[in-house]
Amino acid sequence: MTDPCAWEDLRMSRRLKIFDTTLRDGEQTPGVNLNIQEKLEIAGQLVRMGVDVIEAGFAIASPGDFEAVKAVSENIKGAAIASLCRAVEKDIDRAWEAVCKAERPRIHTFIATSDIHLKYKLKMSEQEVLERAAAMVAYSKKYCEDVEFSAEDASRTRPDFLYKIIEEVIKAGATVVNIPDTVGYSTPAEFGALIRGIRNNVSNIDKVDISVHCHNDLGLAVANTLAAMENGAVQLECTVNGLGERAGNASMEEIIMGVNTRKDFYNITHKIDTTQIYRTSKLVSSLTGVAVQPNKAIVGVNAFAHESGIHQHGVLAEKTTYEIMTPESIGLAQNRMVLGKLSGRHAFEERLKEMGYCSLSTEEIQKAFEKFKSLADKKKVVLDRDIEALIEEKASKIPE
Ligand code: KIV
Ligand code: ZN
Repeated sequence: MTDPCAWEDLRMSRRLKIFDTTLRDGEQTPGVNLNIQEKLEIAGQLVRMGVDVIEAGFAIASPGDFEAVKAVSENIKGAAIASLCRAVEKDIDRAWEAVCKAERPRIHTFIATSDIHLKYKLKMSEQEVLERAAAMVAYSKKYCEDVEFSAEDASRTRPDFLYKIIEEVIKAGATVVNIPDTVGYSTPAEFGALIRGIRNNVSNIDKVDISVHCHNDLGLAVANTLAAMENGAVQLECTVNGLGERAGNASMEEIIMGVNTRKDFYNITHKIDTTQIYRTSKLVSSLTGVAVQPNKAIVGVNAFAHESGIHQHGVLAEKTTYEIMTPESIGLAQNRMVLGKLSGRHAFEERLKEMGYCSLSTEEIQKAFEKFKSLADKKKVVLDRDIEALIEEKASKIPE
């Protein structure tokens, strides 16, 4: 077998599948509660953006969640719709009841596999978990062709046991095998090696899609997801704005732009229309009430803002000096020059032109620039109205 880590293997043509769990794991963000209408609105936008699978909720969790998953399944076309469920018959029944009318329904069943979870949470032996997992995948399969199995806490599971359980659920009919880093414990090298180990040690692994689901407890969810992809994962689970339990899940926009900025190298395709990213981020932020931090990669208000003079000069001459992707590529109209004490004359002159001050002499611009610099020392950001005041002040002093 080829070494999956070899560059040539990485460059094998592959089509990524994006599994969005904003409506399920994203809703597990403390304080977030989406009603049916809000879930439908977000699901519609996710389809517009081109996601492959929408996990609409956890049908058995509450009557409201059941109704929301059902409404998404019945009304949203263009993506597979999944409901999460424990590896328990009554959960699976409820999940199926919620997704059965979807254009492409999926049952997503899970059970924990790590020693810690077996001992303290499930109080089950490995053998019992193994049998339950296989039996519940087979049970789901009676309802639905598309069955995803997740080995919760996979990254802290004994690899031999993980290989064994994956083999059994494949035999039972799973179509997707998901490897979650449930507690965000892994590092990219470890997580990449785990996926490589699965590819090398599990029989019939090529019959299913390997999926990954990374949490961000160490701030490594996106890095781990990309490392998994480099080692053969084809389904990437993520949320818009990185929402999710505790420190959140891998952020969709970061994964996609991470892939896109080196797409030719990877030889990977996906269905995401990146120009919908900004709009989707805004929608999710406003409906969940969770603000996007200003320095958040890709969608933060500062992600395409330049403040220092050296950077502004570079970007005004040629954007690629300090921008690895264009604002337009994520659906943002333009980048932003922030005028502060570190800004230089190029950006200041550019802003004057944008504001319509096109006929100032070199001397007038120089004077205005000096005033701007001393004001910038006292203010965090110099706004357009401050610049107007500087110019008007100068104009009022011009003798009649
Ligand atoms: O983090 C996790 O392990 C999960 C699974 C249930 C997929 O959300
Ligand atoms: Zn999760």
